[in-house]
Amino acid sequence: FQPRVLAGRRILMTAGPTYEALDPVRGITNISSGRMGFALARACAQAGAVVTLVSGPVSLPTPPGVTRIDVKSAQTMRDVVMNAVGAHDVFIAVAAVADYRPVAPSTEKIKKSADRLSIELTRNPDILADVASLPAPPFCVGFAAESSNLDTYAQGKLVAKRLKMVVGNLVQDGMGGINNQVVIYDAKGRYPLPRASKEEVATGIVAHLASLLN
Ligand code: C5P
Repeated sequence: FQPRVLAGRRILMTAGPTYEALDPVRGITNISSGRMGFALARACAQAGAVVTLVSGPVSLPTPPGVTRIDVKSAQTMRDVVMNAVGAHDVFIAVAAVADYRPVAPSTEKIKKSADRLSIELTRNPDILADVASLPAPPFCVGFAAESSNLDTYAQGKLVAKRLKMVVGNLVQDGMGGINNQVVIYDAKGRYPLPRASKEEVATGIVAHLASLLN
């Protein structure tokens, strides 16, 4: 039995990695599996929310009752999010969005020639920061995957991106894997959750989110 603590909420989420093309057959991506975001989308839907999930390239089934929009690049993810955000009252950014993309992706396959090849990268938009700085932003939740200094970086993100809640984890504790160990940060403090499967962690995140919303 799942209490419907998010009944009536409309939640927009991102999940998975992004894929930034270098040429028609190659690109830059990362080790995000999408499992944490998909588990959270499922838990939000089970708690009664209407959920739209904007997903980067992953090999996961769509959770029951969730509307899924597939994207590849950070720029497309941003376009889809900005187009949909007005119809939602909560935004949860779980995606591991590439911070940089190739300046000029080649339309032809890059051939091998010289011993060295340089690829110039340019900054991608920060989707979460852009949503949180809209004139009438939804309730914004961020994720922070760090390799060290989790408290400092996660609490920094809460303030810098003007978020209501951040879910932090050390990369080595969760990214790409089955289980996760997270700490939730909000304006009042930090709340470590026990190490558990991403499905169980998602249930804990939903409970905290509902307590802040209600
Ligand atoms: O600053 P950092 O990338 O570590 O922040 C992580 C949070 O910001 C995550 O919630 C992630 O989904 C979001 N993010 C984003 N767009 C980016 C980079 C991060 O939405 N370009």
